[in-house]
Formats: sequence, structure tokens, C-alpha cells
Amino acid sequence: MTWHPVEIGRSGAVVEWREGMFRKTSDDPRMDLEAEGARLRWLRDAGIPTAEVLDCGPGYLITAEVPGRSAADPWPVELRPRVIDALADLLIALHALPVEDCPYDRSLHVTLPEALRAEPDLDDLDEARRGWTRDQLVEELGRTQPASEDLVVTHGDLCMPNVLFAPDTCRVTGVIDAGRMGVADRWVDLAIATRSMTSRLNAQYGPWAAERFLTRYGTEPDPGKTAFYRLLDEFA
Ligand SMILES: Nc1ncnc2c1ncn2[C@@H]1O[C@H](COP(=O)(O)OP(=O)(O)OP(=O)(O)O)[C@@H](O)[C@H]1O
Ligand SMILES: [Mg+2]
Repeated sequence: MTWHPVEIGRSGAVVEWREGMFRKTSDDPRMDLEAEGARLRWLRDAGIPTAEVLDCGPGYLITAEVPGRSAADPWPVELRPRVIDALADLLIALHALPVEDCPYDRSLHVTLPEALRAEPDLDDLDEARRGWTRDQLVEELGRTQPASEDLVVTHGDLCMPNVLFAPDTCRVTGVIDAGRMGVADRWVDLAIATRSMTSRLNAQYGPWAAERFLTRYGTEPDPGKTAFYRLLDEFA
């Protein structure tokens, strides 16, 4: 059996598929796939539907194929609200886990210094920041840092391709890509999920979806934290 290429991620990880499993490899030392495997296992043990880790080690991660299709795949119009609701319910469950049990710290105390060491991809900035320099991004981070953090267990990269659903019931079958999972402000996930569902890349959703999602999750929009955590994600 041979591995078939799936994609090369934004991070440069290579993802390949073969009967029933996916393999992710990277020679970038900043991308710790063994740690990503540990995070997936932790989430699964905590009762969150997550890809099962078959094997992982330095530079590689092999997971069992999660059945279903991702939120970014095409969905019939009448099922789209149900996908959004299922995503909100997943986040309610994830964010309800006790933070003291989670060994992974992704609070600003960790992620801000990490961002300041990173080289953001200036050719891949959000529309609002097209043409910005690294210095401008860093200055804006300092200027807009929220006064406090509302800490929960977060996924850390909760975009539409990273959650899969059963095509008939819209039940979540599993989350993947959990390399940045850990204790952080809940708006890390809310900001990235709503950006993803209003992105041109996911035209089947839009502002209605973001509004529905936040209502179902049970929060008012927080424009300040939304902007800040999307900005922080430019450094990831
Ligand atoms: N266990 C799995 N089950 C089903 N599909 C998977 C699985 N693992 C990976 N995939 C598919 O491969 C794609 C890429 O995998 P993944 O999201 O882990 O990497 P990535 O987005 O390239 O990584 P990164 O964001 O870390 O650069 C996913 O969007 C999904 O389509
Ligand atoms: Mg992904």
C-alpha cells in the first residue's frame, strides 16, 4: 500500500492518505507532531470526538481516518445551519472542560512571546491587514491586547476544514489538527471559527452563520477580542 498526497498545509506539513489513515510529516522543528499527537489523545480521553492517534513520533503523526466530511466541504443548504449548530455545541463541550486538568498552556503568557519570535507570512495576511509590515503587526498586538483572559480549554485552530461531521445527522465525528490546543481565552476559538465561516473560502456560510454560531454558543459578539485573536493568528 502506498501513501497518496492530500495537501501541503500552510505550515509546510505534508499530509498523505492511505486506506483508513492519514499521515502528517514535517521536518520543521517548530512543528512538533509528537506533541500534536499527545494533544489529540488528551482531547479524546476528555470525551471530545477526536481523530484517533495510531502512531506518532518526532516529525510524524498517523491518525485513523475520521468518517464524514468537514464543515468546509459542500453542504446542502438545509443542512448548513445544523453544521453551524453542531460546531457551536462542540465548542460548548470543549470549553466546559476543567482547565486545571489540561496540561497545555496556550495563554498569552506563552503565545505572545512565541508570536514575537515568529516571522508572519506577510503575503498571507487577512484582508484588513494587506500590505502591513511585521513592525505594524507587532505594534497593533501591543496596542490591542485585552486586559484579561477568560481561560478555557481551546482547540486553537478551529477553522472549517478542521472539524468533520456525519453527512446525514450533522453530528460531529471528530476534530483534527490540534497542534495548538491548550488553555487560552475562549475567543481564540470563537474568533477563528467566525473568521473561517465568513471567509470567501467558505462562501456557503457568511454573516448569518457567525451570528447563529455565537447565539447558539451563548455569547454576545466581542469585537475587541475577535480582532486581537485574529491578529495573533497572523503570527502562527
Ligand atoms: N484523521 C483524519 N481524518 C480525516 N481527514 C483527515 C485526517 N487527518 C487529516 N485529514 C485531512 O487532511 C487535511 C490536512 O490535515 P491537517 O488539518 O491535520 O493538516 P494542515 O491543516 O495541513 O495542518 P496545519 O494547519 O498544521 O498546517 C485535513 O483538512 C483533512 O482533509
Ligand atoms: Mg487543517
